[in-house]
Amino acid sequence: MSETKLISRPRRNRKNAGIRSLVQETTLLPSDLILPLFVMEGKNQKVAIKSMPGVERLSRDHIVKVAKEAYRLGIPGIALFPVIDDKKKDKRASESKNKKGLLQNTIRDLKNAIPELVVISDVAMDPYSTDGHDGLVEKGQIVNDASLPILAAMAIAQAEAGADIVAPSDMMDGRVGYIRACLDEAGYESVSILSYAAKYASSFYGPFREALDSAPRSGDKKTYQMDPANSREALREVALDIEEGADIVMVKPAGAYLDIIQLVRANFEIPVAAYQVSGEYSMIHAAAQKGWIDGERAMSESLLSIKRAGADMILTYFALTMARKLSKD
Ligand code: PBG
Repeated sequence: MSETKLISRPRRNRKNAGIRSLVQETTLLPSDLILPLFVMEGKNQKVAIKSMPGVERLSRDHIVKVAKEAYRLGIPGIALFPVIDDKKKDKRASESKNKKGLLQNTIRDLKNAIPELVVISDVAMDPYSTDGHDGLVEKGQIVNDASLPILAAMAIAQAEAGADIVAPSDMMDGRVGYIRACLDEAGYESVSILSYAAKYASSFYGPFREALDSAPRSGDKKTYQMDPANSREALREVALDIEEGADIVMVKPAGAYLDIIQLVRANFEIPVAAYQVSGEYSMIHAAAQKGWIDGERAMSESLLSIKRAGADMILTYFALTMARKLSKD
């Protein structure tokens, strides 16, 4: 008789790969992923983004090619962000409502080439604004209510071009309701709203701002994006966006905010998206480049963890690499 009488031996469920796969609770699929893409003017253009290895600004022709590849790999949707020439920027982000603007043209290209692909377009002033803020700046303040018509006009231009989902990332109060009402009035009641509901004022957006050249020209975004210290406030933001008509709510960033994803998942029935942002992507790449971590495993683990926390869908710059890996596994 042995001395130890262990009744429970959790290791039994880990003893070989077959058993491990049978007891696996969370499975990541290409259909969980959304690929963010940066579109720029011109033809046959690809410009590397230094702080995001493997990610490039692409002209429209290349965007269509990459989106086709994503769709072929089972990625259902892409999220589009425009790189706007400095000379087209102004205080009121006027270029954002141009029917023939870069983003709108790209949406049309994509819907013509791959009608089934879900096209998500970003609604915020920063890529178009000389101030680099998501709302209108007056006397050094980011003004809320005066920003709403600008955001709504942007959303309508995107809906008109064929966007399936508009995604306000600006964090102005009341913008989901305002945009919903304007979309409906213009006849776009079937266009969905994915709201960046709990978006934190995060250091992890650094590389993205390089990608779009959209960093605030003065000040920071703390009067509209959330304080990383707060979680109850996230529930309030999400509740408001749902009341105002959001179809999907997002938590952003993802990796350092898994508790927020879990909270939102537990408290609401609505689908939850999470954005693994540029800094999260770049950190994994940087450490892998130095040989300090296994980049591919860190990618899989970080995305699986975001899904485990409760995200129904994940925006990630790893989408293509991850989907390729999943189709090989
Ligand atoms: C701004 C916007 C940002 C991101 C998406 N939309 C940056 C910001 O708020 O300054 C960040 C995405 C990323 O870092 O990958 N409207």
